[in-house]
Amino acid sequence: MNRTLSYKALILLIILAIIGSCSADKNEINIYSGRHYQADEQLYREFTHQTGIRVNLIKADTDQLINRMELEGSNSPADLFITADAGRMIQAMEKGLLQPMNMEKIAKLVPSPLRDSENHWIGFTKRARVIVYEKSRVNPEELSTYEELTSDNWEGRILIRSSQNHYNQTLMASIVATHGREGAAKWANGIVNNMAQPPRGNDRDQVKAIAAGTGDVAIVNTYYIGLLLNSPNAEERNIAQRIGIFFPNQQNRGTHINISAIGITAYAPNAENAQKLIEFLLSESSQSTLAEKNYEYPANQHVELPDLLKEWGHFKADTTPLDQLGKHLQQGMIIFNQAGWN
Ligand code: FE2
Repeated sequence: MNRTLSYKALILLIILAIIGSCSADKNEINIYSGRHYQADEQLYREFTHQTGIRVNLIKADTDQLINRMELEGSNSPADLFITADAGRMIQAMEKGLLQPMNMEKIAKLVPSPLRDSENHWIGFTKRARVIVYEKSRVNPEELSTYEELTSDNWEGRILIRSSQNHYNQTLMASIVATHGREGAAKWANGIVNNMAQPPRGNDRDQVKAIAAGTGDVAIVNTYYIGLLLNSPNAEERNIAQRIGIFFPNQQNRGTHINISAIGITAYAPNAENAQKLIEFLLSESSQSTLAEKNYEYPANQHVELPDLLKEWGHFKADTTPLDQLGKHLQQGMIIFNQAGWN
């Protein structure tokens, strides 16, 4: 009897051990992403195909995802956090939501301004926030810098979205980093004075407002022009044809660059898989997919640009390390509010 019991107990222990090892070693990865692009999902499918690791994706507003991870604490299922903006990734890091990753294979691929000096996050796409203009109404020789857009020449002609937008907040942080609080306040006041209308809509809407004649120039990310040029909607394609891209500040610090960033969460249950996915996203093949399908600049400096991005031309990028912009975000918000930039 005793022997039977211990035999049964042994079997039970073995079964429990198998179940235990399965749940501790799930071949999956959980992503919390603030990006909403089909190209990303294509890459996740390819990753699963190559590695057998299942990808579970939760897409939401970046701030909501940060709140969620804070609430979930050490029980969070998230392995990877993805943002479409450096500023929000820095905030997640400052809240203790990230852990350092192994940069051994990837540090040499991505220039240092585009990654955290303490390895908590890395950029995997670059976005240039440029000036776009209506080709028949604006001579690009009139354009020069973000700062020059505050001159009288642009009165009632500038389109830009709300200060609630993360891209504008990180751009403002770069203006504060360059000009200090007073200089940045002067810039914000000057832009507000020259706005064609109170900020509304997204980057694409600013481009459409140029085409509609509401204003003549807008500050937007370049990939939106790529998306419009290749839109299934003929009207959007026509609008994009009328728009020129100008890379500002070529004679000084360079055009403002933001990134889509990725980091491993502090309590990642599948941290090893997370590391693998980061390396996969920075591979030449994935980087080409993101550049070709989403018109973003590759963060991997060894990847060749697709033709459209080459056509836009080579430009000088602001190389202020993005991890230094975090400390100016709050100041930037105060300046936006004081300037009445809604
Ligand atoms: Fe975007």
